[in-house]
Amino acid sequence: MAGTDDEHTSPGARENGTPLDRQAADKAHESVHAAQTAANPSSGTDGEPLHKRPGGTRVVRDRKGVRKVIEVPSTGHSWDGIEEYDNPLPRWWLWTFYITIIWAIGYVIAYPAIPLIRGATQGLLGETMRSDVAVEIQRFKDANAPIQAKLVETPLDQVAADPELANYTSNAGAAVFRTWCAQCHGSGAGGAKGYPSLLDNDWLWGGTLDDVYTTVQHGIRDPKDGETRYSEMPRFGTDELLDKTQIAQVVNHVLQLGGQPHDAALAAEGATVFAENCTSCHGENGAGDRAQGAPNLTDAVWLYGSDPATITRIVHDGPFGVMPAWAGRLSEADIRAVASYVHSLGGGE
Ligand code: HEC
Ligand code: HEC
Repeated sequence: MAGTDDEHTSPGARENGTPLDRQAADKAHESVHAAQTAANPSSGTDGEPLHKRPGGTRVVRDRKGVRKVIEVPSTGHSWDGIEEYDNPLPRWWLWTFYITIIWAIGYVIAYPAIPLIRGATQGLLGETMRSDVAVEIQRFKDANAPIQAKLVETPLDQVAADPELANYTSNAGAAVFRTWCAQCHGSGAGGAKGYPSLLDNDWLWGGTLDDVYTTVQHGIRDPKDGETRYSEMPRFGTDELLDKTQIAQVVNHVLQLGGQPHDAALAAEGATVFAENCTSCHGENGAGDRAQGAPNLTDAVWLYGSDPATITRIVHDGPFGVMPAWAGRLSEADIRAVASYVHSLGGGE
């Protein structure tokens, strides 16, 4: 780089119409620079123009290992008083650099590398990641085909009794769950607001293996599945089926059913409202009805929340939880595996 004529200078060049404050800053800067160079005579204070400075020194060892101090020329590049010296690149670095070049050429010849309009150069080894992956996937499919066929043929209630199938469903079912169910039900199946926990004994639609299997297959309130589980709690407030007072009353009755703090007078009135509007789904005593997916209102498990504000909102707006149907999106074997897995999580009946 030494010997080129291009001149990189600090922002000290002032002829180009730099704004005044900038010029002042440059001036201040220059005086600092002058003080620094005065304190360090090796960088030349003999009035030479900046780019002709002699540079610095460097300690090297010759072939016999003797230390010498040699002069290193400056490239003439100077930024804010920091000089660029024309030191040779370290030998190890240079060799590493050459080796990477040789490696790159070899790679381009051997492997798919250069993108063309359609596809890319193939490389002499004919290797492609895509074909590798396809082969791997096929290998797993082939390996799993017999056990999946067996799973589809075995009646669901006999799956757990077969050690081979039980082992397969707990592994494959867990994998399906992580991929397709965890985003709503949580990676540990513990659920979240609006998404039921699948670990407990509290089931909206039923916790036998057959119930779970049906839920997974057809979903809940999935408009795309004709056999989906369906029920619709009325929107008592939105559709003006109940007025504000009645809603406050029935909400206090629900609080009472769940053993929570409530207004006794409102709750007593609410019992009538409940009997007239709610028992058809939630049952005489509020214990729920699985045939309609209506939750038990007397226990400590709440799908949406147990606080008065949430219950008021639910009664006013009507809940409408949707769970997608999986038939058609997952294979029969996957649905059976994940249903068995969910059933085995602890809350199965
Ligand atoms: C888009 C969110 C979503 C996904 C994904 C999802 N679910 Fe659900 N699931 C729900 C909701 C919401 C409900 C409750 C519906 C209701 O209010 O009745 C539910 C209910 C259930 C129930 C019934 C629980 C009960 O108490 O009866 C089961 C079983 C279930 N899901 C299993 C699964 C499995 C297995 C998968 C993965 C294949 C899955 N879900 C994927 C949202 C989802
Ligand atoms: C047509 C049937 C039906 C009727 C009538 C009905 N509900 Fe519901 N209710 C449901 C269903 C189904 C759910 C669950 C909905 C979901 O999962 O999205 C539910 C959920 C609830 C919840 C939420 C429970 C939780 O765990 O978070 C409350 C509270 C509730 N209902 C109160 C009432 C009250 C009070 C009335 C009467 C004023 C009533 N329901 C009438 C079907 C009904």
